[in-house]
Amino acid sequence: MKMKPVVTNIKVDELFNFTDKVVFITGAGGVGRICAKGFGLQKARIVLFDVKDEVCEKTCSELKGLGIEAAYVTGNIAEQKSVNAAVDEVVSKYGRIDILIHTAGVTKNKVCTEHTQEDVDFVIDINLKGTIYVNQAVARVMKKQNYGKIVDIGSVGGALSHMDVTMTYEASKAGVHAIVKSFANEMAPYNINVNAIAPFWINTPFISHQPKEYFEAVQRLTPFKRCLEAEELVGAAYYLASDASNFVTGQVLFVDGGYTSVHAMSMEELGLI
Ligand SMILES: NC(=O)c1ccc[n+]([C@@H]2O[C@H](COP(=O)([O-])OP(=O)(O)OC[C@H]3O[C@@H](n4cnc5c(N)ncnc54)[C@H](O)[C@@H]3O)[C@@H](O)[C@H]2O)c1
Repeated sequence: MKMKPVVTNIKVDELFNFTDKVVFITGAGGVGRICAKGFGLQKARIVLFDVKDEVCEKTCSELKGLGIEAAYVTGNIAEQKSVNAAVDEVVSKYGRIDILIHTAGVTKNKVCTEHTQEDVDFVIDINLKGTIYVNQAVARVMKKQNYGKIVDIGSVGGALSHMDVTMTYEASKAGVHAIVKSFANEMAPYNINVNAIAPFWINTPFISHQPKEYFEAVQRLTPFKRCLEAEELVGAAYYLASDASNFVTGQVLFVDGGYTSVHAMSMEELGLI
């Protein structure tokens, strides 16, 4: 077993130095796009992976317009061959992958009793199996490097049922949180950290179809009384992708404004103080 180097550096600019790191980002739309900008602006090299060519193209040209080195590969995370081929392409071009930010995901809104086999397969194939395929392919590359940072996007829905219409989605995200723990254990000897970020509702197309009333109710239930902006996830991604988190692995970092911690109205809100 190779020993992990111990980093005791406490200079913040060196801990968070992403210059020339190759960052592979699945999902070129909402959160993926914002993370790509975040890492790109820190001089990392960005490779996007999405099933939609036009989304990749649009985000890529936006990144290039900002002076960021960016490229993309199209494919489907639900298909292992497609993921492996994409990762091979990245390695043949860049020679390595330092950081994975895995954001690609889907949902299907229907009450529990109405989820068809097709609905279940759709969500599980992409969110759960896709996470396994992406982590496997990238971890193989990182093992050879004896270095890597894997950050998967989970969800508050992986910890609790916060909507009665997202059962399969929530099951898939609970699975993502479990996958992270297994990979963390296996990858530690290779100096690879594997963690997840579990966000609260974010203002992206992902939730744009939700009813306005539900949207408002969910915001009332979180201490900060608002949704999350995708940009607010970037700090958590920096942390888990940097040397600042070298001793952190197998964790799920909730970026949820306290939503999963608080299940009561505040005394002030109730007019009691
Ligand atoms: N938006 C939210 O409120 C919210 C809350 C918690 C967690 N999340 C999670 O955050 C992640 C990102 O969500 P988002 O808001 O950016 O969603 P989004 O819909 O804006 O973007 C998701 C991207 O994934 C891509 N994608 C979908 N299926 C794919 C496949 N099979 N192969 C490759 N790419 C595929 C889509 O084309 C899209 O560009 C998801 O995993 C989601 O579950 C989102």
